[in-house]
Amino acid sequence: MEINQILRRGGSKVAFKLFKKTAKKLDNYSLSHGVSLVTYDNPISTISEQFNTIRTNIQFSSVDRNLQSILFTSSAPSEGKSTVSNNVAVSWAKQDKRVILIDADLRRPTIHRTFGVSNHLGLSNYLSGTVDLETVIQPTMVENLFVITSGPTAPNPSELLGGNRINEMLATLTEQFDCLIFDAPPINSVTDAQVLATRVDGVILVVPCGIANKVGVTQAKKSLETVHAHILGFIMNRMTKENMEGYYGGEYSGYYGAIQK
Ligand SMILES: Nc1ncnc2c1ncn2[C@@H]1O[C@H](COP(=O)(O)OP(=O)(O)OP(=O)(O)O)[C@@H](O)[C@H]1O
Ligand SMILES: [Mg+2]
Repeated sequence: MEINQILRRGGSKVAFKLFKKTAKKLDNYSLSHGVSLVTYDNPISTISEQFNTIRTNIQFSSVDRNLQSILFTSSAPSEGKSTVSNNVAVSWAKQDKRVILIDADLRRPTIHRTFGVSNHLGLSNYLSGTVDLETVIQPTMVENLFVITSGPTAPNPSELLGGNRINEMLATLTEQFDCLIFDAPPINSVTDAQVLATRVDGVILVVPCGIANKVGVTQAKKSLETVHAHILGFIMNRMTKENMEGYYGGEYSGYYGAIQK
C-alpha cells in the first residue's frame, strides 16, 4: 500500500488506527539515555530481524539509482527517527559494509548517548569550519560502524546544514564509506531536514502508528516533494500485531514495521 493510499483512507479502520488527532506529549528519554539499540544488544530477535528486513527493503527500493546516502526524518519530534535510523545503521554494518551514521539533529541529538561516545567535537564544529572531517569521525563498539555526533549546540543549525561544508563532507564520506545514514530532525518544525533532504540519495519518513497525525504526515510528504527530495518510502514504527491485521494479512507480528512505497 502506498503512503498516498493510507493518507487518503482517512475514514477507514486502518487509517483510524494509524493516525491520531490529538497532540502528543514530547518524549525526552532518548535525549539523556540514547535510544534502544536492539540490533546490537539482541541481534537474534524478532525486532532485529525486522530491522534487517527494513535494510534489505531500502536496498531494493531504488533499482535505477545508487543509494549511498539516506536520510531518516518524520513529521514531528519523538516519532522514532533515531531508533529506526540507528538500528538500521547497525544492521547495515553487520553486513560488512563500512557505515557512517551522522547526527544531523543539531537540536535534539542522541547518537553520542546511544553509542556512549564523546560529543565534544562533532558535526556543528565541522560545519562551522573549526575542525576538519577526520577529527569528528569516531569508531563505535560495532565493527564497521562509525559516527559523527552532533557536536555542541549551535545557534544556527539550518544555516550550518545548508552551507557548502556539507557538500564537501558528503563528497569525502561517499568516497570513504559504503553507506551514509543521516538521523535528521523532524520535517515540519524546522527547515533543517528539508535542506538536507535535497543533498542525499534518498529519504525515509518514519511514521509511528497510532501517534502520528495525518495532517502532519501529509504536510511532511509535501515539504519533501516541494524540494524534489527522493522519497524512498516510509517506515511504520510501533506497529502491533493488532494493527497489522488486514494490512499485512495478519502474519506479521511486528513492532517496527517495514518500509512501504
Ligand atoms: N517501536 C518503538 N517501540 C517502543 N518505543 C519506541 C519505539 N520507537 C521509538 N520508541 C521510543 O520513543 C522515544 C522517541 O524515540 P526516538 O528518540 O527514536 O525518536 P526521534 O524521532 O528520534 O525523536 P527526536 O525528534 O527527539 O529526535 C524513545 O524513548 C524511544 O525509545
Ligand atoms: Mg532523534
